[in-house]
Amino acid sequence: MSRARCPVVLAVLAGLLSAAAPSALAAPSSWRIIGGTSVPITTQPHQVALVVTGRTPSAGQYCGGTLVSPRIVVTAAHCVELPGSSTYPGDVQVFAGHERLDQPASGQTVDVARVSFSPAWDPVSNRNDVAVLELAQDVVDPQALPATPATTADAALLAAGAAVTTSGWGNTVASGTPAYPNDLRAVGLNAIADATCNAPSSYAGAVDPASMVCAGAPGKDSCQGDSGGPLVSGTVGSFRLVGIVSWGVGCASASFPGVYTDLTAPAIDGFLAQRATLPNRPNFASATAAGITGTPRAGETLTCTHDAGTGTGPLTVSYLWARAGRTMSEADVAIPGATAATYVPGSADVGRTLFCRVRVTNAGGYAERFSADTTEILAASTAPAPAPTPAPRPADTTATPSPTPTPAATPTPTAPTPTTSTTVPLVDRTPPTATLRRRSCTTVACTLTLRITDPAAVVPLRSVTARATTTVRRRCGSASRPRTCRRTEARTVAVRFLGADTYRLTARGLRRGARYRVTVTATDAANNRRIQHFTATTRRR
Ligand code: ARG
Repeated sequence: MSRARCPVVLAVLAGLLSAAAPSALAAPSSWRIIGGTSVPITTQPHQVALVVTGRTPSAGQYCGGTLVSPRIVVTAAHCVELPGSSTYPGDVQVFAGHERLDQPASGQTVDVARVSFSPAWDPVSNRNDVAVLELAQDVVDPQALPATPATTADAALLAAGAAVTTSGWGNTVASGTPAYPNDLRAVGLNAIADATCNAPSSYAGAVDPASMVCAGAPGKDSCQGDSGGPLVSGTVGSFRLVGIVSWGVGCASASFPGVYTDLTAPAIDGFLAQRATLPNRPNFASATAAGITGTPRAGETLTCTHDAGTGTGPLTVSYLWARAGRTMSEADVAIPGATAATYVPGSADVGRTLFCRVRVTNAGGYAERFSADTTEILAASTAPAPAPTPAPRPADTTATPSPTPTPAATPTPTAPTPTTSTTVPLVDRTPPTATLRRRSCTTVACTLTLRITDPAAVVPLRSVTARATTTVRRRCGSASRPRTCRRTEARTVAVRFLGADTYRLTARGLRRGARYRVTVTATDAANNRRIQHFTATTRRR
């Protein structure tokens, strides 16, 4: 089953979000949030927008949120953590107190001091999609008013048929090209019983009653960009926050209503009860990826290496090993039971490439890192271990330049002796050339399919490596003299040989809505090298 794009579903380990939102029933003649109307903030005074730091609300809004006190915003975990895309306090700001994103001066924009999400947040199943932002200052805008989070005592507010309202600046078009409005929209829905929502013709068990609740009405729904925003019960002055916009298949589809995080579920209530004292989510000491050491051969031990995590309170470290998909369409699959720092590949791994994930967790969430893929796992050696064979082969599978087969002893470094021979030495002076065949991006990852040909074809390709960079602007300088600095941020790119002359490049952990320059270096065995640049822009939401 393929679900909507935001919370990543099955393709998580592949680092690719399925962008395919099965298109819903067309929303009839509706220009509104799906099926809703444009509203002043005073009707939904708890609504806030999450905005990428340094952007204007209209350019940088990517999720919604709900003010539950002047300092605390409740939002979805998937708005701050998806595999490969992690949000920390400096990365996000909150816009409150106004319905129009293009009038920031009429509302209030505040920094975030702390980002915490449920450590039980699972982006594969979308369970426990809840997060808390502590703001650096109180929201004082007179038009902004908190809603009270519901607890387990409020389950009746979500009884089947109960009236609820959701709101946000998300997509207003159920099918076709998405349209993101500048003005806040709201729509009235009805709560739906778990059993109805999990019927075989609907979500067929994908809705977890322990953390989710469905709500919908014909032609009405929340949609992409509304995530993290409120599902409320009651009226102005006495709103109860009963849900958080989380996920759905398409938008306003008759058989697939919106799915919301259920604040009346014990797991969610339990997390939010700690909202005033949750620690900031952990981080890693550096931006470096995890790594794998050891010989990639069945029977030999591989170790997942990483930086020590940093964070408040006790940190636990956990691991996962997975087999990378062999083709573009094949998903990466976690290896059952492979959850220790070390893993000994077996016969099922021979010919496959592996990677590891390391996660550090505290009460305020987790941080994770993925390693690059190993080279193909070799069969167990029976004879004494042969020397590693770094023979030139086209299947370079990692972003790290393959160890160049350095000639053991280069003879004299003098120029080749001119000979009088009439045979022309077979010299390849033509570097390989890459052409772009396909490019697709989600909010956090981009995949480029390249054909890399070496016209002279005298020698095979030795290596293909790639890197993705983007320019980030961030505030720097002192509080009294703020400045804007630019910095280049780099991401490694996994390169996979797909056969013939086709290569797949996958960059994960990218920023949302950012333009990346992908630098591809292709080297043939005669050391002819060409560096080419391609661009790829991640989706905003
Ligand atoms: N995940 C989406 C977001 O990030 C929200 C999807 C809600 N979908 C729905 N059909 N109600 O904005």
